[in-house]
Amino acid sequence: MKVLMVCLGNICRSPLAEGILSEEVRRLNLNWHTDSAGTSGWHAGEAPDRRSVAEALKHGVDIRQQRSRKVRSTDLAEFDLILAMDAQNIRDLKQFFGPESGGKIRLITEYSRNFKGMDVPDPYYDDDGFAHVYTMLKEFVAGLLEEAK
Ligand code: 4NP
Repeated sequence: MKVLMVCLGNICRSPLAEGILSEEVRRLNLNWHTDSAGTSGWHAGEAPDRRSVAEALKHGVDIRQQRSRKVRSTDLAEFDLILAMDAQNIRDLKQFFGPESGGKIRLITEYSRNFKGMDVPDPYYDDDGFAHVYTMLKEFVAGLLEEAK
């Protein structure tokens, strides 16, 4: 299973999602490939936002080695699932990949029990938003792994 997690900047939400999922994948010894990317290239090459780094470390997950990148056209063929943080990301991804891309692109909270169908809110301008983003993403990981069993 190859899973790509996508947000706008690939420095706040999707690096956290990638970190939490990859930690679980490692713990469970699964043969999965995980990655993350941004619909924009605004922060390409940068490490995750320090607030995401801090939130992850609070939960024993180290995301400091990640680097932001923009979504590539080859990602559609390479990944089995492309999981977007919000409805705008989905619109941008469908526009980027073209009309045939629908099936693999999902809202990440489809896999969560308590946040189903909700956007993962952009925490960039909200220092207090990162703990909530972590809670939402932790639930997504549990739901995805349950479904994949
Ligand atoms: P992310 O958050 O999409 O979760 O990485 C953002 C990061 C940067 C910006 C917006 C959102 N920005 O405007 O630079």
